[in-house]
Amino acid sequence: MPLVTTTEMFKKAYEGGYAVGAFNVNNMEIVQGITEAAKETHAPLILQVSKGARAYANHTYLVKLVEAATIECPDIPIVLHLDHGPDFETCKSCIDGGFTSVMIDASSKPLEENIEITKKVVEYAHDHGVVVEAELGTLAGIEDEVQVSAEDSAYTRPEEVEEFVTKTGCDSLAIAIGTSHGAYKFKPGTKPQLRFDVLEEVSKRLPGFPIVLHGASSVPQEFVTMINENGGNMPGAIGVPEDQLRQAARMAVCKINIDSDLRLAMTGSIRKYFAEHPADFDPRQYLAPARDAIKAMVKHKIVDVLGCDGKA
Ligand code: G3H
Ligand code: 13P
Ligand code: ZN
Repeated sequence: MPLVTTTEMFKKAYEGGYAVGAFNVNNMEIVQGITEAAKETHAPLILQVSKGARAYANHTYLVKLVEAATIECPDIPIVLHLDHGPDFETCKSCIDGGFTSVMIDASSKPLEENIEITKKVVEYAHDHGVVVEAELGTLAGIEDEVQVSAEDSAYTRPEEVEEFVTKTGCDSLAIAIGTSHGAYKFKPGTKPQLRFDVLEEVSKRLPGFPIVLHGASSVPQEFVTMINENGGNMPGAIGVPEDQLRQAARMAVCKINIDSDLRLAMTGSIRKYFAEHPADFDPRQYLAPARDAIKAMVKHKIVDVLGCDGKA
């Protein structure tokens, strides 16, 4: 089937108490690993492309790779989504260039400005049959060149969400409840705890409205160890506990964003391969196990974390 929007997908996810995985793609092996996992588990899928991914791999290559995935997986609904669109022009370029969903991330701007930019993107997107994710609240961590420190991050204020959604007309809303981007989400020795009270309050104010969770990698220690044992240096990398993500997926969260875990799986596998096969130099030799590791990781997410296996 052709690329779809998130509309039907989120409605079913909300009602079914599960979330759809949104995985970042940057090259062919990543696209293949993710889509093979979705195909084998019959799960709906969101493939997302950041500004950095477009700069790295080129818009057209990424669109064509994702279109190839729809041909290889004809029974799986797939969304092509812009992750963290920084401005109207980037969103427009993706809307005009084949994406079915865009995120406008003006969350670092004052509320009125966030509303104004988001509304402009929504009007253009809806005129072209594309859906829009917006964000309220600020996550800590790194997105493209922007680094937000833990002190500057801020939980979403539930009292702002109705006005924001009504005035902008956005289709889904990313909120900040304690997750952050990257592999270092919590201080070692502290207990990671998402703010389910904020999520609960937001969903009371926006009944039936799909909520999005960014920064939702769990940073599996298996891969951190694999990296560190094979020449890497990632001390104190900690992610969101999987049971908390499962709980969020049972609530109003319909889309869960995962990128760092794919990077860890890919990097760990490649480091291990090189350590064990120092004479090999054919990229297919080390990219094949990296692709397999991504596939296994995504299958685990779909079945054990998102609960969306069999929902395609
Ligand atoms: O939220 C950030 C995503 O992990 C994408 O990262 O901007 O480095 O491609 P990137
Ligand atoms: P992670 O860094 O936790 O994988 O988050 C990815 C993300 O939010 C992409 O938008
Ligand atoms: Zn994000």
